[in-house]
Amino acid sequence: MAPLALVTGSSAGIGFNIAQQLAQRGYDIITVGASDRVHESSKHLHGGQVYPVQVDLTADGGVEQLWAEVEKLGRPLDIAVLNAGKSLGGSFVDTDLDEELYMLNLNVTSQVKLAKKVVTAMAKQRSGRILITTSMSALTPTPFESIYGPTRAFMYSFAQGLREEMKDYGVSVTALLPGATATDFHHTAKMDNTKFGDNSWKNDPALVARRGVEALLAGKDHVIGGNLKTRIDAFKKKFQSEAAKAQQFARSSRPSK
Ligand SMILES: NC(=O)c1ccc[n+]([C@@H]2O[C@H](COP(=O)([O-])OP(=O)(O)OC[C@H]3O[C@@H](n4cnc5c(N)ncnc54)[C@H](OP(=O)(O)O)[C@@H]3O)[C@@H](O)[C@H]2O)c1
Repeated sequence: MAPLALVTGSSAGIGFNIAQQLAQRGYDIITVGASDRVHESSKHLHGGQVYPVQVDLTADGGVEQLWAEVEKLGRPLDIAVLNAGKSLGGSFVDTDLDEELYMLNLNVTSQVKLAKKVVTAMAKQRSGRILITTSMSALTPTPFESIYGPTRAFMYSFAQGLREEMKDYGVSVTALLPGATATDFHHTAKMDNTKFGDNSWKNDPALVARRGVEALLAGKDHVIGGNLKTRIDAFKKKFQSEAAKAQQFARSSRPSK
């Protein structure tokens, strides 16, 4: 029987590309998205079996509903990719608190809930690989996306802590830190009027996904998702002050009007 992978946020963007690359490597895939496009996009995954699940992971019982679908298959879960996430652009003075609380729920709370299910199952089977998509925003203050960056920093730190714990169970945990990537992400975050709103200069989601999948399968602790320029940028951040990084980030995230 083919190995099984769960990929959240796989109806589009980076998650879709991760799902596609795992399918090409012979994995059966459980794809997840909140909208009905998860059914259509799943038809474009070629390899093994595909099981689309349409569920809002922020809804009460959403994670439990997804997990019931995983358990229904009655098979060990070999890979879990916790990837679904969103941002919200704009000055914190102007942004809507409910939208920010929704983002915190999706990017942090629902991830922790799902991680609990995944980790419990993988510890029991004493095998498995977990990939957590965070962001290079985990490495910098993110003005004009001031809540988003901290959600990614949370998940990066969580991934590294979990990695150490899960070594005892033969389970690897890898963090993927994409740089800016050409998906719907910044449009959904209402950032069309920023430098991030222009997809022409950003990383190819297929490249970001490939780096994530290779690191996952190699059991690496983390990987920067992007081209050479992105990786040099990440390296430079080790030597910059928080204030300098905040200024640099604002040059791309500040709305033009
Ligand atoms: N793009 C970037 O520049 C960038 C950079 C660094 C890190 N990242 C990280 O990469 C991850 C994926 O981003 P992306 O660029 O691929 O974004 P994207 O193209 O907007 O895709 C987001 C995915 O998440 C799903 N999703 C959104 N809300 C959901 C919910 N409530 N419940 C279940 N699924 C939900 C979407 O499904 P539906 O829309 O079909 O519901 C879609 O499949 C995120 O964690 C993000 O933080 C992105």
